[in-house]
Amino acid sequence: MTTVLNEPAIPGQAGVLLAELGDRAVRCDLYDEVGAPVYHDLAGQGTHEVRELLTLVRAVPGPVLDLAAGSGRLTMPLLALGRDVTALELSGSMLKLLAARLATAPEALRDRCATVRADMSDFALGREFGAIVLGTTSISLLDAPGRKGLYESVRAHLAPQGRFLLSTVDMELGAAAPAETEFEFTADSGRRYRMFEHWTAGAEARIVTVFPAVIGEGQVEVCTTSIRVLSADLVEEELRHSGFVVCTRRVLPDVGARHHSVLLEAEVAA
Ligand SMILES: C[S@@+](CC[C@H](N)C(=O)[O-])C[C@H]1O[C@@H](n2cnc3c(N)ncnc32)[C@H](O)[C@@H]1O
Repeated sequence: MTTVLNEPAIPGQAGVLLAELGDRAVRCDLYDEVGAPVYHDLAGQGTHEVRELLTLVRAVPGPVLDLAAGSGRLTMPLLALGRDVTALELSGSMLKLLAARLATAPEALRDRCATVRADMSDFALGREFGAIVLGTTSISLLDAPGRKGLYESVRAHLAPQGRFLLSTVDMELGAAAPAETEFEFTADSGRRYRMFEHWTAGAEARIVTVFPAVIGEGQVEVCTTSIRVLSADLVEEELRHSGFVVCTRRVLPDVGARHHSVLLEAEVAA
C-alpha cells in the first residue's frame, strides 16, 4: 500500500499535469515504498556537499551517526572513511534500499554499519558519536517542536568535542523570478524525470513534484514532497538556543539559481 505521509495540494503546472492524468496518477510521498526508489535514483545528483561533509568528519575522531540516512548516499562514503557508522532512518522503504546496498558492499565496510529505524526528533541509542551528520537539508523535514527534539537528542549523543554537521538551504527569489521552476534530467539509472519546484517568496515550504519525463500508458507514479524553507540564520539561532555553538558556516556552490545550500558545523557550548 502506498502511504501518503504528507500530501500537499500541487500548485502550478505540476498541478495541471496531475489533473490531466486523472485517476491514472498514483500519488506517493518521495520516501514511501513507491517514492523511495525514485528518491534513490535522484540521490546520485550533486556530490559537493558529500565532499565537504567528509572533510569535516575526517577532522573529528570516533564513530559517526548519519541521521535521516535514506538509502545511504552519505552512509556509504562515511563508511569508506573507515569509521563505524550508525544510519538512522524513519522510513522502512528507505532502510530496505540501504540494506540492499550494504548487502553488496565489501564485508569490512558492511560490518562497520549499524542501521536503526527511528525518528531523528526523538532517539535514544545509548552511545556517543564523534560526529553526527544531518545532510541533504533534511532538517527541513521537521517542524519547530521536531527540531527542538532533534537538537536535544543530538546533544545527548555527541562525545566531548564532537561535531554536529548539518545543511540547510537559503532561498532567494529575484523580483521577476517565477514561482515554479522545472528541470528535466536523466538519473544514474538512465530513467528520465521531470521535476517541478513551487515556492513563492516568504512561503513556509516549497513543494517538489516528480513525474516520469515520458508518460506512457497506464498508471503514472507522481511523487511529491513538501520541504520547509529554513534559513541558515534561523537554524543557527535555534542551535544557539539549544546549547550549541556554531563553529563554521560554509556556503556550498549553488544547486539552482535560487538555492544556496549552507553547511553548519556546531558543537555543544562549554
Ligand atoms: C532528503 S532525504 C536524505 C536521505 C540521505 N541522507 C541522502 O543524502 O540521500 C530525507 C530522508 O529523511 C527521512 N526522514 C524523514 N523524516 C524523518 C524523521 N523524522 N526521522 C528520521 N528520518 C526521517 C526520509 O525518509 C528520507 O529518507
